[in-house]
Amino acid sequence: MFKTDLLKGKVVVVTGGGTGLGKSMALRFAQLGAKLVLTSRSLDHLQPAAEEIRQAVSGAEVQVAACDIRMPDQVEAMVQGTVEKFGKLDVLINNAAGNFLAQTEKLTPNGFGSVVDIVLKGSFNCTLQCGKQMIAQGTGGSILSIVTTYAWTGSAYVVPSACAKAGVLAMTRSLAVEWARHKIRCNAIAPGPFPTEGAWAKLVPGGLGETTNAMATKKIPAGRFGEHHELANLATYLIADESAYITGECVVIDGGEWLMGGEFNGFTTFDQTALGQMFDAMRPKKR
Ligand code: HXC
Ligand code: NAP
Repeated sequence: MFKTDLLKGKVVVVTGGGTGLGKSMALRFAQLGAKLVLTSRSLDHLQPAAEEIRQAVSGAEVQVAACDIRMPDQVEAMVQGTVEKFGKLDVLINNAAGNFLAQTEKLTPNGFGSVVDIVLKGSFNCTLQCGKQMIAQGTGGSILSIVTTYAWTGSAYVVPSACAKAGVLAMTRSLAVEWARHKIRCNAIAPGPFPTEGAWAKLVPGGLGETTNAMATKKIPAGRFGEHHELANLATYLIADESAYITGECVVIDGGEWLMGGEFNGFTTFDQTALGQMFDAMRPKKR
């Protein structure tokens, strides 16, 4: 899909880069020549992921940095460490997140805050420090945030996450304008469901795995979940210099899922022959 040196020399920080979609994006970036900093709270997540990427891509330069993105001082140190190692920072992927299912009337303020602190404040902390570095370098950069389609539709049972992701999207669009003068592009990706251990552990109720999978694939027009390489390729396109005129955009990658609310879309799950006969019966007769 891409020329093999598309990201050659680019220094890319991936938050939550040791697991799930973060790891998959990181691997793709390394295959295309990027130098990586994988960061999250746990070195137990980061070190095996870095090793896996080094094994898969010979010569890959992969650093790990333990950093809780809720802590501004840790984020500042992570960015400083990146610049000390690689001399610059070109791309930030705001991918780290926290989430859980809860009936909202049972949430505590601390429960709400625990998700907002990671997703909204954590993404802001990273954006601020990386943005300052990009401005100081004077070479521009790219900030890509992973949100979700319920950032604008909202969703029952994930109110903290929906509020926080909506905030990240607002930040993306605001800074696309404010930092364009610094040649910093800010974009977002809104994935539908992509199976990962982390998301499934938090979002698929115990014992309902099969039912949830069946329900989910039924409500996705494409009839399946997303595959990691599909998201990784989209992220690659958005951070590459070749997409230099795209900023402030949020690209949906969900097999058509979020549009399924359309008034008559439920008919697509009916037997199509029977449906055609019902429509035909409603047609005015030719005189
Ligand atoms: C209700 C809960 C809760 C739950 C925690 N809390 N889990 N409340 N239901 N299931 C409450 C606690 O009671 C506490 O409030 C407060 O939240 C903080 O809890 P801690 O356990 O101390 O939080 P912390 O250690 O900071 O962990 C943060 C976390 C955790 C968000 C709760 O889940 C986490 O670390 N997640 C990281 C990985 C993750 O979530 N990955 C999935 C991303 S998937 P009180 O008041 O009792 O002190 C994703 C997909 C989106 O985002 C789109 C899908 C389509
Ligand atoms: P995941 O594997 O659970 O990823 C979450 C990552 O965030 C983990 O690597 C975790 O690492 C890191 N993290 C959590 N709290 C942190 C903190 N305070 N500081 C630093 N890092 C922290 O889940 P995923 O499915 O790959 O999700 C990746 C992104 O895609 C998220 O933004 C999610 O909202 C989004 N998304 C996923 C889906 C999906 O279907 N999978 C759909 C839509 C959007 P540590 O535990 O080591 O800190």
